[in-house]
Amino acid sequence: MEKVIIEESSQEEIHNFDFQTWREEDIDNYGEAVGWKEKSFVFKALLDGKIIGSATGAVQAGVIFLDALIVARECRKMGVGKMIMDKILDWSKPLNPHKIMLFTMSSWQACKFYRQLGFKKEGDLPNHYLKRPFIILAKYLKVTE
Ligand SMILES: CC(C)(COP(=O)(O)OP(=O)(O)OC[C@H]1O[C@@H](n2cnc3c(N)ncnc32)[C@H](O)[C@@H]1OP(=O)(O)O)[C@@H](O)C(=O)NCCC(=O)NCCS
Repeated sequence: MEKVIIEESSQEEIHNFDFQTWREEDIDNYGEAVGWKEKSFVFKALLDGKIIGSATGAVQAGVIFLDALIVARECRKMGVGKMIMDKILDWSKPLNPHKIMLFTMSSWQACKFYRQLGFKKEGDLPNHYLKRPFIILAKYLKVTE
């Protein structure tokens, strides 16, 4: 293995290798070829044409990962966060997700918002972003099949 060189690569360069090699691995591990295609989303909440909230994330293999969700300070507790969440769930329906999840800190006010919407703690991420303790919150969704 002395002749092996590790180099940075573009996604395009590794695409065919990954597709074929992971396919075999997935058949071994899941008993089928898996569609791992990720579909990302970006939503904004507008009030009189001005952005007052936003959300970003992605859906992959039935799991919505909510990367970031924020509402302008002066517009909080007026239902905007819930409206954004409803939009994400509505938009993702054709992908038939069974779960939505995110990382947050238990000390954040946002936890009350998520718990209000039915999210529950699924795990701990000690020493995570900025060496702080994060938690995993998740909610299970109705699936059509
Ligand atoms: C978390 C956040 C997006 C919530 O948005 P929001 O527009 O204020 O939330 P909503 O008004 O839609 O609230 C929905 C429900 O959650 C409750 N809720 C929201 N924030 C709450 C808080 N700080 N404390 C207690 N309950 C809260 C609301 O009372 C409401 O309950 P109801 O349906 O019984 O009335 C917003 O507080 C925020 O931007 N926080 C800073 C960024 C952040 O921490 N994002 C999450 C990162 S993981």
